[in-house]
Order: sequence, then structure tokens, then C-alpha cells
Amino acid sequence: MKIAVIGAGYVGLVTAACFSEFGYEVICIDNNKYKIKQLKKKIIPIYEPGLSDLVKKNAKSKYLLFSNSISKIKDANIIFIAVGTPSTRRGDGEADLKFVFSVVKDISKFLIKRKKQLVITKSTVPVGTGKKIQDMMCELRPDLINNKDYFIASNPEFLREGSAIEDFMRPDRVVCGVTDKQAEEILKELYRPLNLREAPVLFADLESAEIIKYASNAFLALKVSFINEIANLCEKTGGNVQMIAKGMGLDNRIGPKFLHPGPGFGGSCFPKDTRALYASFKKNKINNTLVKSVINFNEDRKISIVNKIKNLLKPKIKNKVIAFLGVTFKPNTDDLRESPSLEIIPRLRKLGAKIHAHDPAFNPEFIKVKELDKIKWHSNVLEAIKNADLLVIHTEWNEYRGLDLLKVKKALKNPIILDLRNIFNLDDMKRYNIKYHGIGFKS
Ligand code: UDX
Repeated sequence: MKIAVIGAGYVGLVTAACFSEFGYEVICIDNNKYKIKQLKKKIIPIYEPGLSDLVKKNAKSKYLLFSNSISKIKDANIIFIAVGTPSTRRGDGEADLKFVFSVVKDISKFLIKRKKQLVITKSTVPVGTGKKIQDMMCELRPDLINNKDYFIASNPEFLREGSAIEDFMRPDRVVCGVTDKQAEEILKELYRPLNLREAPVLFADLESAEIIKYASNAFLALKVSFINEIANLCEKTGGNVQMIAKGMGLDNRIGPKFLHPGPGFGGSCFPKDTRALYASFKKNKINNTLVKSVINFNEDRKISIVNKIKNLLKPKIKNKVIAFLGVTFKPNTDDLRESPSLEIIPRLRKLGAKIHAHDPAFNPEFIKVKELDKIKWHSNVLEAIKNADLLVIHTEWNEYRGLDLLKVKKALKNPIILDLRNIFNLDDMKRYNIKYHGIGFKS
């Protein structure tokens, strides 16, 4: 089985590396010459636990190759499209498919007659995209369509940043949208190594597979926003949101996951995919309130966190020093995309606060992100905390969980902690006489 993966970004690189781990011959293609040059030198641009070793191992054994040239797809039976589908700037954030369609045009030049090649969208694409690609191919290569020498399929990914390899190797399910039995057979063969691990491979039509991806992400985002809203109630009425999440989660129709309150969801997927799904409803003139409410609630939540911080620093926030632990949208990643911190920090600065930040994944790229170049970065946690008027835990990195609270208290000018991820517990705080504010309980 020879596989081509077009797009060496987060999804493409993980997909290529994992398939090469099964012993398939994989070529990962990207038009970014620098990225491919670095990958050929086994320099991995992505902070993803285990990815670097996987790439190095399979590049060494030649199961995994890299190229800038899309012509290499002519040797492949399976061609994954794994390029970005960012939100369009205008309108409601509809998925921008210009990169996908540009790759389809490039692919069409190199597909080979009678080779029975399967083109698969791995990128998250709105419902109807697979059909559009099919129509494009009919235009560009009618010779292939008539002889059924080429097939289209949808195979969305469900990879979480920070656990992508585990999610690929032990998925809850593999979703495949197909239009032809032959495509189904090829995909069954491709995913046989996973199927041996009892990972269910679900075969559906193209449209269902495309919607499963968006519906899954939007539903997970809904769960997060729901528990955040319940947390707001608890902060007024009493009750502990962690206990409520536990009580809810014991109902196997609800499940315990994605019921942890926080500053709101971020990342390169939930925000983009909820906007894209809402745009699909609008484009098809179907009324949608739920997905829209998830988007709006999440945006408002970041502002409510700023107000919470303002209240803790009353009577004035101007010139107060806030120690901000964690800036990434979640732990075990260096991804800042749409992290709540990117809304919260600029608003605090605008109110006159001084931000001292720490993040275990800090790298020079961080200070290229809006306003993060104007805050004070520290490589040592206690240095970041020193003389702060307030300590905010934004990202639940493990290294914050074990902080020496006596040292924290001594370092702070004012012993107040706002823990946006509830990584600490109230009893410890009482023991050290630290004023502690978590999320989702009266404090
Ligand atoms: C998500 C989906 O989980 C994954 O299946 C899809 O393929 C890509 O998008 P990812 O964006 O990497 O993965 O992160 P995820 O772990 O889902 O968290 C998304 C956001 O929700 C983060 O900001 C996280 O902090 C937040 N979150 C998640 C919560 O606030 N509470 C939770 O209980 C879970």
C-alpha cells in the first residue's frame, strides 16, 4: 500500500507518521519548501508528544519520505488531502476551502488511468465538499470518471493535540464516507491494522462522514460550554461544579469527559469548527440556535474572566501585577491558536495591569502572537509569581499541580489565586491561608 499525504501540518504529519508506523510506504508532500527541508533533516516543527520519534524512526527506515512535489502522488494508491481549512475572515467564519480545491486541481494532473487511486479528504471540510471535489474531477479528468479509475472518500480525523498519536493508534472509531464499494474495500485494507485492535470502522455516505466530524466537535464544545454555564450558577448558589460533573458523568448517556470548567474552549478546531458548522446552517437557510449559542457563550466567557480578575483586584487594576501561568489553549501543546489567553491578556493590559507570564511550552514564536511580546516572560515559575498581586492559573500544565504552596505564598505580594482550571483544592489553600478562587463554587 503506497500512501501520499498532502499537507505536512499538524494533521498531515501525524497521519503520515502513523501510517508509516504500520509499514505502509508514505510520502508526505507540502508546498512549503522550508518545512519539507526541515522534515528531511528530521527537524519536527510541531510540539506533539511522541511525534518526533515516530517521524525520525520511519524516515530512517524509509517508510516515510518527504517531498515538495505533488507529482509524487502518481505512485500512490491512496492520496490524503490534509491541508488547512481556516475560517474565512468575512461572514460567519465559513471554512475556507481554497487550499483544498487548489490541491484537487494539482492532483488531477497526476492521477493515472487504470491505477484505481483513492482521493480522501482528511481535512475538516463542510458537508458537500466531497461532492464538489467529485464534480471538479469530472471536469478536470473525465477520462478517469468514465473508467472508474479514481474514487473519492471522506475520512475525518479525531486527533486531540497533545494525544494525537494515541488517538490515531487507538481511536474510538474510524469514520469513512464513500460512494463506491471499491473505495470501501481499499479503506478496509488500509485500516486493517487498527481494526485488529477492535477499532470500529464505520462506513457511511460522504455527507454523513463530513457532518459527523463537525457534529462531534460542536457537541464536545457544547459540553464544555454547558459545564461552564453550570459553573456560573454554582458560583452564585453554592454547589460544586466538579461534584455536579461527577454526578452527571456517572450517567452513561452523558459520560464524564469534557465536563471540566475553564476559561472557555480554544485551539485550532473547536472555535473554527463551530463557526463553520453554524455557517453551513446559515448557507442552507436552516435556523440554528444551539451552535450559535455555544459560539457566543464561549466568546462572552473570556470577557467574564476579565471581569472576575478586575473584581479580585478592586478598587483598581491599573499597575497591578498579574502572574499568568499557562498561555496555551491546553497542556502538552505549544499551540496558542484561539487560546482564551489571547483575549484575556490584551484586555487586562488595556485596563493597565502588568502581566508576568510563564508557559512550559514557551518558544520564540510566542512573542510573535498579538501583544504577547509586550508582557514579561519568565522561564521560572516562582520568578513569574514574585511580587504579583494575583496569581492566575490559565492552563492546567502538570508542573503547576505540584507547586510548593508555601513558596508560592511567600513569592506573592498578595496571596490570592484565581485557578481557572481547578487544579488546586480548597483545603490546601486554607492550610496556607491563601485566598483561593476556583471555577464553579462559592469562594
Ligand atoms: C479537539 C477534539 O477533541 C478532537 O477530537 C478534534 O479532532 C480536534 O479538536 P483539541 O482541539 O486538540 O481536539 O483539544 P481538546 O482536548 O478537545 O480541547 C479543546 C478545548 O476545550 C481546549 O481549549 C480545552 O481546554 C477545552 N476543554 C476541553 C475544556 O475547557 N474542558 C474540558 O472538559 C475539555
